[in-house]
Amino acid sequence: MVTAKVQPIQPRRRLLQDSLGRPLRDLRLSVIDRCNFRCPYCMPREKFHDQYRFLKSSERLDFTELLRLTRLFVQLGVVKLRVTGGEPLLRAGLADLIGDLTSLPGIEDVALTTNGVLLAQHAAELRAAGLQRVTVSLDSLDPGVFAQMAGGFGSVQDVLEGIAAARRAGLSPIKLNTVVQRGINDHQVLDMVGHFRATDVTVRFIEYMDVGNRNDWNRERVVPSQQLLERIRARWPLTALEPAYRGEVARRYAFDDGGGEVGFISSVTQPFCGNCSRARLSSDGRFYTCLFAAEGTDLRAPLRGGASDVELLELIRAVWERRADRYSELRDNLRARGVQHVEMNYVGG
Ligand code: GTP
Ligand code: 5AD
Ligand code: SF4
Ligand code: SF4
Repeated sequence: MVTAKVQPIQPRRRLLQDSLGRPLRDLRLSVIDRCNFRCPYCMPREKFHDQYRFLKSSERLDFTELLRLTRLFVQLGVVKLRVTGGEPLLRAGLADLIGDLTSLPGIEDVALTTNGVLLAQHAAELRAAGLQRVTVSLDSLDPGVFAQMAGGFGSVQDVLEGIAAARRAGLSPIKLNTVVQRGINDHQVLDMVGHFRATDVTVRFIEYMDVGNRNDWNRERVVPSQQLLERIRARWPLTALEPAYRGEVARRYAFDDGGGEVGFISSVTQPFCGNCSRARLSSDGRFYTCLFAAEGTDLRAPLRGGASDVELLELIRAVWERRADRYSELRDNLRARGVQHVEMNYVGG
């Protein structure tokens, strides 16, 4: 009997995955490296001083360049965008960019992370441009502690007004990022929860991380999320929620009395690299595959040098395929080796 030779079915182009099998789903765009705060855990004042060399505007990708790269990332699997800084609302015309990003075919979610000080001024135009939701950084409701944690800039009142404006503009959900540092604001965790519980604002506590090379990180100042969870739960009973999507960064808990939810982002004590599908693009067009990476890949030079879309796609694809980052899981070993990191204000949170 003669068996017909079976022609192999031409495999469809393989879904892009890194060397650990993680897809590329999430792109975080830093649009400016400047900030109007000097949070000591991110941009300590003495290191980010008046002479610090921030990027010049000509060094930054313009919106056309940013959109072109974002479209290419979408072709490789990105469905979710987060616009960050520094402080993204310092970038002139941000609402125009948001308008273009939210209308990109293939994008399911666009969010903005801001310190909130300029939000009252911009919330309505951002919403009108198509932004759905916003994440605001707020570390304390106490004016003195706030001042210490923001490096002496802005005020609690400004941020609360920004949040109120975001709510009025219809931005939803509103999430808060609260970095917790032992001995600095950890005694105020219950105040934060009590203030925002049963409102439409969700607080997420972030473990203080060793981002960048300038924040003098010290493990003693990290409060494990488990301790915060126990403290909160003793006051308001909580039930763990299932992740809203694969690879969700925050572990979420619902208040049993219906007062909404609270989240914990625990990169130090409960790393979440296993599902990390996040890429980061600095405002001068360097592509990073980890928040703690030392080096990025320059996309601006080929972009400005006339590279075609296909060439850029292949470059991004090759970097992602080689990716093996899992810094938070290897933190102790890598720290012992003294590895350098990109700065947080440069690549976004
Ligand atoms: P949504 O679920 O989309 O709202 O986003 P999110 O929970 O990831 O929130 P967001 O993007 O605002 O991230 C909150 C904070 O978590 C960031 O500012 C970082 O401090 C931290 N974070 C986010 N992504 C990573 C990551 O990939 N690695 C580490 N180590 N920390 C991260
Ligand atoms: N550790 C944890 N979170 C940090 N962020 C900035 N620096 C750190 C750090 N060292 C958070 C801020 C902000 C987001 C952009 O990143 O709170 O919400
Ligand atoms: Fe600015 Fe945010 Fe860094 Fe604070 S954490 S200095 S607000 S970029
Ligand atoms: Fe992703 Fe790096 Fe954060 Fe791990 S440490 S979750 S690999 S960005």
